Amino acid sequence: MKVLIADDDHSIRFILKVQLESWGHQVISCKDGKEALQHLTSDDPPRIAILDWVMDGYTGVDISNILKNRTPLIYIILFTSKNNEKDLVEAIEKGAHCFQSKPVSPGVLKSHIEVAKRLITAEDKLKTQEREIRLQCYSALSDLAEVRHNNTGFHMKRISLYTKLMAEKLGMTQKQSNELALYSKFHDIGKVGIVDTVLLSKEAYNKNERDVMNTHTEIGYSILSSVPTLRTAALIARSHHELWNGTGYPDKLKEDEIPLEARIVAIVDVYDALRSERTYKKSWTHPEVVRYMRENAGKAFDPKLVDIFLLHEEEFNQIFNTNSVNNQ
Ligand SMILES: [Fe+2]
Ligand SMILES: [Fe+2]
Repeated sequence: MKVLIADDDHSIRFILKVQLESWGHQVISCKDGKEALQHLTSDDPPRIAILDWVMDGYTGVDISNILKNRTPLIYIILFTSKNNEKDLVEAIEKGAHCFQSKPVSPGVLKSHIEVAKRLITAEDKLKTQEREIRLQCYSALSDLAEVRHNNTGFHMKRISLYTKLMAEKLGMTQKQSNELALYSKFHDIGKVGIVDTVLLSKEAYNKNERDVMNTHTEIGYSILSSVPTLRTAALIARSHHELWNGTGYPDKLKEDEIPLEARIVAIVDVYDALRSERTYKKSWTHPEVVRYMRENAGKAFDPKLVDIFLLHEEEFNQIFNTNSVNNQ
């Protein structure tokens, strides 16, 4: 485990470092509060911090207070020579988990580390469970739009696979790509608010019906935008029918005004719609759709994203072919 020590006394830092390293911990040693705070507020902070109460820059209590409600939890052991009740109670209230007078024996230090590890493990387990439950709920919710269509679920599955592919090719991390793939499944959630006479119509739409159908973008946005963790999904739902040249809907955004995530879903959604058979149109072949994408780069679609699509077009074809009703 990564442990941070902050103390202005070099010899204390040295003794603690040697001791902690002998137990297999990775130690970051800081000479003042400012340096410690930089490490503790980084993207990958140490999960245990041993802080001196009195230090230059920030005191151990200042740092405890700054980190109090942050995630992930950082277990703070406050080193102090103070022993009056008022100070100690205040330190705990401000966010320290325990305090220890100096010098500390190896046995006592080890016990503090054990308690810290137990709390951190429990916290991490809870966070993982929470995340899994949240993702399961999102996944179930994103299926809603397709249920009303009586679709088989393949469209959304393919959309999420193409989106993941595009995100990876754009250099996003695995975590970002997986999350974007999930959010892409919400793009048409607003269709739950479209009347059956339009939604289930088997004919090509007239102007009025088209106008009604187009509101699925704003309906989707209003459903999702109240959930802070679904902000990206809300943007996708609103903007996946915007076009690069500004002639899309609902906001007539153009080029980089359109959120990148929505530009990605715009391409993959059209690719899949053209490949699929509808009651009012035949399915297009993969080469026909590739030609259409190339012709519409810089018009309907972000030309850079079309370039990525063209580089990997065969993988799109494969996703379509292996995730269609005929191939199950
Ligand atoms: Fe849509
Ligand atoms: Fe779609």
